[in-house]
Amino acid sequence: MNPNPHASNQDDRLNQDGGPSSDYLSTVEEVYAEAAQTPAPALCCTTGPSWKLPGLSVPRAMLERNYGCGTTVHPRDLAGAERVLYVGVGAGMEALQFSYFLRRPESVVAIDKVPAMLHKAEELLAEAARENTWFDPSFVSLRKGDALSLPLEDGSVDIAAQNCLFNIFEQDHLDQALGEVHRVLKPHGKLITSDPVARTAIPKELADDARLRAQCLSGALPLEDYLGALVRAGFGTVEVRARRPYRMLDRRRYGVTTDILLDSIEVAAIKDPIPDDGPCIFTGRTAIYIGEDEFIDDGKGHLLHRDVPLGVCDKTAQALQSLGRDDLVLTESTWHYPGDGCC
Ligand SMILES: C[S@@+](CC[C@H](N)C(=O)[O-])C[C@H]1O[C@@H](n2cnc3c(N)ncnc32)[C@H](O)[C@@H]1O
Repeated sequence: MNPNPHASNQDDRLNQDGGPSSDYLSTVEEVYAEAAQTPAPALCCTTGPSWKLPGLSVPRAMLERNYGCGTTVHPRDLAGAERVLYVGVGAGMEALQFSYFLRRPESVVAIDKVPAMLHKAEELLAEAARENTWFDPSFVSLRKGDALSLPLEDGSVDIAAQNCLFNIFEQDHLDQALGEVHRVLKPHGKLITSDPVARTAIPKELADDARLRAQCLSGALPLEDYLGALVRAGFGTVEVRARRPYRMLDRRRYGVTTDILLDSIEVAAIKDPIPDDGPCIFTGRTAIYIGEDEFIDDGKGHLLHRDVPLGVCDKTAQALQSLGRDDLVLTESTWHYPGDGCC
């Protein structure tokens, strides 16, 4: 990949209104058809899996085609999960990692729109079976499909995951993709995503560059907008689990007025109804009661034991802060929410 926006093909970038042409989707297909054949070291993160598992060997060619930016595989999400949907399988590394925990035929349904990528995933999952005695390729059902129109029944999966695909979509397509995932999840099912987000909004001329978008560099939304899209799709609980520096869109190479830092985030969105007073968005804030009593109860389901931090969503943190009590401390967002709070 050449990260220089000026090296992109102008012809497939803009439509007559100056926005990205619907052709950006075909540019995406071209980029990933190519990246299936030849590893693209600068495309997304090819530095290795975020973590390793005992007894799991990831074929080298699969690792070289790791085009994700964080991890979506967490054992804690998988207790009781029967079926995981993986959208945009790439070369299959995360489908393999999900299989490590599920180990049943067709327990991971993995879709991709690009035939060359599906073929590569099939080939590399067969190679994984040769390297891992516990793995059988039947654990992963590979299907051609589009994130914008998922080939699955309503309410049919416990977990849905996507890594570094949804950031590529323009807003209408993002809403459509999130709506589709929401549709196929069971009630209380979880969408686990990892994507780049931008510390400051990406200028239109970069956002409109189809090739940079396909390379997961210029479609990144500010975190707040990304979380807003999840809520718009109907997810009532959202957990920001990780946020770490990912790439820099620097002035010299990208022609922007100020350098723009992209973060890679990991987020879980739960298909709970959105409460009347708004969604519960956890960003790693805690409430700590430091008063005289053993505990206090805010009457809204939060029991605060003296000196013990309680993970709270941002809405609750604001409500507690507005009480103005000097025996209540509200800590700032850490962007690392391990999933043990209550809202
Ligand atoms: C950035 S790569 C990420 C691949 C994989 N998740 C990983 O972490 O390595 C995006 C993947 O989505 C696939 N893709 C692109 N457009 C798609 C669409 N509309 N629906 C489903 N998959 C799509 C690409 O072929 C590619 O495999």
